[in-house]
Amino acid sequence: MQDYHDFLDEILFTQEQIEARVAELGKQISRDYAGKDLLVVCLLRGALVFTSDLLRHMTIDPELDCMSLASYGVGRYSSSGNVRVHLDLRTNIEGRDVLLVEDIVDSGRTLAHVLNMLRTRDPASLRVCVLLDKKMRREVPVQVDYVGFDVPDKYVFGYGIDIDEHCRHLPFIATVDLERYQKPS
Ligand code: IMP
Ligand code: MG
Repeated sequence: MQDYHDFLDEILFTQEQIEARVAELGKQISRDYAGKDLLVVCLLRGALVFTSDLLRHMTIDPELDCMSLASYGVGRYSSSGNVRVHLDLRTNIEGRDVLLVEDIVDSGRTLAHVLNMLRTRDPASLRVCVLLDKKMRREVPVQVDYVGFDVPDKYVFGYGIDIDEHCRHLPFIATVDLERYQKPS
């Protein structure tokens, strides 16, 4: 894998900016779910870093579960929304207040698929928190209740979000210069 400095285009959000926004979201969610028995569902793997920071900014005491999806028929940097469940929830969500946490909403296909699937399990409520929203790319309408930041139509990485499974460890979020990026062999 190339050194990320070789393909980094622009830092969109610094570690400090992310920390401040995630803290705000944690407080807002805690206010909105005060007195409720919240279940946070982290969509692996992209939302792992975000979810773990978000939880630590909550003043309520939610349960946590995780789901992992496998996309297929995917273009290089886009999702087809043809997703199957690779790892399902352990928790029965019937009658539960569920908050789904995702890294990025782009076309909306992935979230639409997961939301439809979870709705069939009759949760009391189902809301969505995404770190990044690529609004102009939306093809399928999805209601997103909490958004960290809006982002332009560019490929991003860092803070849990990968480029070809790398760069998840970086504390900031940056755009890729695809001209300079070499896909690992
Ligand atoms: P959607 O189904 O088109 O909304 O795509 C959402 C999924 O695509 C997210 O869960 C991300 O995993 C992935 N994705 C979309 N844009 C990016 C990006 O810029 N960097 C890394 N992953 C992305
Ligand atoms: Mg993803």
